[in-house]
Amino acid sequence: MNKNFYITTPIYYPSGKPHMGHAYSSIITDIFARFKRIEGYNVLFLTGTDEHGQKIEKEAKKNNKDPKIFCDELSDKFRSLTKILNLSNDDFIRTTEERHFQSVIEIWNRLIESGDIYLDKYSGWYSVSDEAFYDEDEIEELDGNKVARTSGSMVEWVEEESYFFKLSAWQTKLLNHYKNNKDFILPISRQNEVISFVEKGLKDLSISRTSFSWGIPVPKNKKHVIYVWLDALTNYISALNFPDVNHNKYKSFWPADIHIIGKDILRFHAIYWPAFLLAAKIDLPKRIFSHGWILSDEKKMSKSIGNILDPIEIVNKYGIDQLRYYLTKEVSLGNDGSISMENLKACINNDLANNYGNLCQRVFSFIKKNCKNKIPEGHNLTDNDLKLIKKTKEILPKLINFMNNQNLNEYVKTVVGLSFDANKYFNDSEPWKYSKTNVERMNTILFTITEQIKNLSILLSPIIPLSTKKVLDSINLNDKDIRVDTILKNNVLNHKKEIKETKILFKKIEDDN
Ligand code: MSP
Repeated sequence: MNKNFYITTPIYYPSGKPHMGHAYSSIITDIFARFKRIEGYNVLFLTGTDEHGQKIEKEAKKNNKDPKIFCDELSDKFRSLTKILNLSNDDFIRTTEERHFQSVIEIWNRLIESGDIYLDKYSGWYSVSDEAFYDEDEIEELDGNKVARTSGSMVEWVEEESYFFKLSAWQTKLLNHYKNNKDFILPISRQNEVISFVEKGLKDLSISRTSFSWGIPVPKNKKHVIYVWLDALTNYISALNFPDVNHNKYKSFWPADIHIIGKDILRFHAIYWPAFLLAAKIDLPKRIFSHGWILSDEKKMSKSIGNILDPIEIVNKYGIDQLRYYLTKEVSLGNDGSISMENLKACINNDLANNYGNLCQRVFSFIKKNCKNKIPEGHNLTDNDLKLIKKTKEILPKLINFMNNQNLNEYVKTVVGLSFDANKYFNDSEPWKYSKTNVERMNTILFTITEQIKNLSILLSPIIPLSTKKVLDSINLNDKDIRVDTILKNNVLNHKKEIKETKILFKKIEDDN
């Protein structure tokens, strides 16, 4: 069985500071990457920045900066965001790197060789902000401006010589691929959207521009730069050392297992990218999963509306695990979801502070007081004790399935349910009643609940890795045991070493905070 797993985020335009939408794409991807690791896979998780194109060139000009220097500065902000969000990415690619340049040129040459590129003239609508071409029927008039209906971004009329990619020639092959690979595009609603768009007929795609210069020049015709999306999408293979197809990284990790993207960039990933790859005779990625938008005050975040939520501010105020957990729990993955500070506070208090956090703290301080700070062994477990632990083992395949189908909300709901059960078990079992009269019974309850804390911490570790690591460290669980299959094993707990002191895991948020 292939135990390699390759997962990617979109690469971000470093045209402004990172915002919550970017953080969301990255956090979701990180959760799946971390889960695959604890499932025992050798994971490659890629993120990075998309630095060419007219949008970046314009922003750099506005800031009186050379585009490369401008990108260096902003790309650094995205790179440091990976640390702030505690992402476990293995690589960070920039499209201005030499390794990427080589890949894009190779793709271009392959498309020329296969006869999929021709020179013509483009006249039509272009949105610099989306870096996308739009048809007449995708445009509407808003306050006297022409805008793209889906994104609301301004469009301008463009007429210039351009190389075209014969996208129309790939329509049937794409449709066949969608039909034969039912989970190539997920969720299903997005798959249907793509299929009906492709069924309506694909037009050839303009893949070069001449009216600006910030990009990778077209080989043998330096007047043109390669369209930023053809350039950007290639990042997923340039990070694997393509065109060196014998390179270990490429051989081990391509085709990618999953590209996580937002719904606004679905067309590029589900239509253009596979068409380019088919034409270049490269295998297609296995899955494209599109999430919805994070809405602030019910609207998509944008500079012009002024409703941008800054992830760094929230992390500084409430903590990274708190933000990661909240986004996972609150937003139904695949759909748009509104977030608010009020809900964030309630979520931290109810699910993290009062539930999982409080359980760990109560159990550990009880063990400290009554068991010389060591996890006791359990003997003669009652049906009720066994029920608590067995349930987790029994539903483990279901949980793994949820994660592997990006059903993150069901996963979290189920794990939080287990955590509520564990709290109830502890309260109902009343170990304090036995501290004088029946130490063996008290010990068994403490063993059972600690076993379940361990299981919950493993299951929550992809979502709240810092806090769960603190808990698992404090009970002396080895890093190598932070794995899904540890849940199925007995006797993993260390009864000899003392439990290490942990600071409060999740501070409760008071009203005025
Ligand atoms: N550079 C392209 C992607 C190229 S991938 C080969 C791009 N960059 S972006 O910076 O504009 O957006 C990157 C990601 O952030 C997209 O997945 C997009 O959906 C996501 N988000 C941007 N705003 C968002 C929200 N308000 N909510 C959720 N995610 C959104 O597109």
